[in-house]
Amino acid sequence: MARVINWLRQTPLDTNGSRLGHADDHPGFADPAYVRRRDAIVAAAEGHRVGDPSPPVRYRESEHSTWRTVHAALTRAQEGRVCRAVTRAREAAPVPADGVPQHEEVSDRLQPLGGFRFTLAGGIVPNKRFLGAMADGYFHAVQYVRHPAVPLYTPEPDVLHDVFGHGTHLCDPWFADLYRTVGRAAARVESDDALDLISRVYWFTLEYGIAYEDGQPKAYGAALLSSYGELEHFARADIRPFDIPELVRLPYQVAGYQPVLYAVDSLPRLAEHLHGFLDDFDEDTRDRHGLPALPERGFMGRPR
Ligand SMILES: [Fe+2]
Repeated sequence: MARVINWLRQTPLDTNGSRLGHADDHPGFADPAYVRRRDAIVAAAEGHRVGDPSPPVRYRESEHSTWRTVHAALTRAQEGRVCRAVTRAREAAPVPADGVPQHEEVSDRLQPLGGFRFTLAGGIVPNKRFLGAMADGYFHAVQYVRHPAVPLYTPEPDVLHDVFGHGTHLCDPWFADLYRTVGRAAARVESDDALDLISRVYWFTLEYGIAYEDGQPKAYGAALLSSYGELEHFARADIRPFDIPELVRLPYQVAGYQPVLYAVDSLPRLAEHLHGFLDDFDEDTRDRHGLPALPERGFMGRPR
């Protein structure tokens, strides 16, 4: 339970901008039956080794129903708000509409396209493992489904986030290359400081990134692609030009809407930024670039 609550330390908004209530009151935390179900699914991740097949989950009809609700809402919300490359990836390998897919089914769809497979996460995964596994073509994903009472908001990443967000990316070889770029950098370093630095860049790009297309900000980050509320709100965030030294300085929150987002001039520029920063990343990168110490350390475990 404590691990669940760690994901949310602020009061989220619903899709109309109303307060959903304090984190501890979110039905995902306050419903003992839901927490038991979530914990039972999470238990399968104990001892999971990267690359092992994910065990199948016998999803309940209520979970499939939540999936269908969110699928329909996200499909509508992405219309006109996401980068063209995202739309192309989604069309190349549509996310199943009728119910929650199994990890292995998703992986079999991803592997021939971008070379990635899902590997099982139970929740928080240390940065080294989470980021480093991307070098080998594995993305840590969870299997549990958000609470059905608030299907369009989740304070923690769930299987909908992982499939709609990261799964969409990983259907596209161009995005998959960026994940590997992050992973290779993480595989080369060991210190918390260096891994936090990579994690922060990952957070403001592959999770929450924005790119301009035809003069308009469009979403490409997985957290935005998989959040009905954030798709509606991100254009009203404080959108700043992509700048690694600045984003490194910015404290950020792991749940709720991000108040500050960073936009690249165009999506192809993202690859230049990430390769330029990460291809020779090592323990001395912070000093070489004259980057400040991170304002907050060690959050993270598994970014969502
Ligand atoms: Fe994520």
